[in-house]
Amino acid sequence: MKFYITTPIYYANGIPHIGHSYTTIAADIMARWKRLNNFDVYFLTGTDEHGSKIAEAAKAKGKKPQELCDEMSAKFREAWKLLDISNDDFIRTTEQRHFIAVENIVQTLFDKGLIFKKKYEGMYCIGCERFFAKKDLDENGCCPFHKTKPILQSEENYFFKLSSFQDALLERITDVNHKEHIDIQPEERRNEIVGKLKLGLEDVSFSRSAIEWGIPLPFDKSQTAYVWVDALINYITAVGYPSDETKFKKYWSADIHLMAKDILWFHSVIWPAVLMGAQLPLPKTIYSHGFFTLNGSKMSKSLGNVISPQELVENYGVDAARYLTVTLIPFGHDGDISWQGLTLKYNMDLANNLGNLISRTLKMAEKNFNLKIPQAVLNLELAKNVERNLKETFASNMDNLQLHKAAENLQDAITLVNIQIETDAPWKLAKTDKDKLAVCIYSYLQAIDIIAMYLLSFMPSLAEKIWQITGAPGNINDVAKKYFTNGIIPKEGFSVSGADLQIPGILFPRIL
Ligand code: MSP
Repeated sequence: MKFYITTPIYYANGIPHIGHSYTTIAADIMARWKRLNNFDVYFLTGTDEHGSKIAEAAKAKGKKPQELCDEMSAKFREAWKLLDISNDDFIRTTEQRHFIAVENIVQTLFDKGLIFKKKYEGMYCIGCERFFAKKDLDENGCCPFHKTKPILQSEENYFFKLSSFQDALLERITDVNHKEHIDIQPEERRNEIVGKLKLGLEDVSFSRSAIEWGIPLPFDKSQTAYVWVDALINYITAVGYPSDETKFKKYWSADIHLMAKDILWFHSVIWPAVLMGAQLPLPKTIYSHGFFTLNGSKMSKSLGNVISPQELVENYGVDAARYLTVTLIPFGHDGDISWQGLTLKYNMDLANNLGNLISRTLKMAEKNFNLKIPQAVLNLELAKNVERNLKETFASNMDNLQLHKAAENLQDAITLVNIQIETDAPWKLAKTDKDKLAVCIYSYLQAIDIIAMYLLSFMPSLAEKIWQITGAPGNINDVAKKYFTNGIIPKEGFSVSGADLQIPGILFPRIL
């Protein structure tokens, strides 16, 4: 089975921040989870490089647009490398492969009579790269997202007959039995889209005559494709449209388009309409996670309140940065984040719970058994108990993109082992019953191995490290793939008696 997941392609007018990281880490966690479940995964991210926003940013910096895009796109790639993102492809809309796809789609729609020319005057927000109807502006006549006054623009453009797709879209979004059903999640967001759709759709501008920094229309080179049309098409370019039919057939359509609510309308209305117009299959799930503020305000470079991926990694390390970013607010809901909140969660979940479990277990093994897994009767009860706690709930939370809940399941499993340690009181057994102590430590190690496999998608390098520390054999990814596909703990467990253990060092130093 294949699984195609995408993030938005981020504007190349600035550097990546925690907002972009949020979506990208979440998509990465899903991609890793699906790979562990034996899916043939295609995970796409990239940069959006055309349009007035980029052209203006370049001008302000005294650079050519392409030069700025090259620099910024490289920054996104670096950030994703730093955060251990396992994307299969990174698309840039200035690539040749993308020009070909955009020209092809635009020409197809034109040939089908879905594109026509019209004089238009409207209020354009460069931040959003879209026109606004007066009724959609806030009480000050400003863009509701950017709080800036849109500019009045008047030009002759090509328009797309979006209005003719209203019924078809409503049907596909609301009828779960439709063979081309588009599942918009979460439900509240779907309801908003449906409500807006029911009010009627207006045809949308599909090209710009004044913006040179874009892809010229194949049938009228004096106009460039509207940046949103250009951008959305990236999702099919990357999987081979139109030249690699085999790849395209294999991976399209998208199983999940992931993003925040700011751009849900484009993905759930304009994009499916374009695809329908071109007679291509529709995305299956469009998931809008929450939008978060930082200390109560919108993150903005000018306010100086952005958190960069680099800062996150400097403060917490890569694995913790990934874990904290995606679990701080309930996935799918808006929320507020802060450094204090991140640190609090770090100390609670990682230093006190997970870190403590690993370090106390290994310290006991060092002190009493010379850092070797003791020869002892194998007792997998605790491991099985951990598994019972995790198995179904974790998988269903992951598959429903409830990442914060899956992380809670993990914490509960870790707590369960920590409680068992308190109950066993191995520090007393060390004085009274060395054989029982050996059985206990052996059982903690088995339970930790199970936990490590479930941690893999969230904290890949840490999980690998835990696997080594506990003397478990083979590559954790291979073992976990087998485990998640047939769901059986081997009879002899994972780590075996006599194997060498390692001192972990302090995995998560407490932060004051
Ligand atoms: N270029 C368009 C997307 C085109 S996709 C065909 C764009 N780019 S963007 O750089 O502005 O990225 C917006 C996305 O970044 C959001 O939808 C979300 O995925 C992520 N986020 C940016 N800031 C965020 C928050 N403060 N909170 C949550 N997600 C955030 O729009």
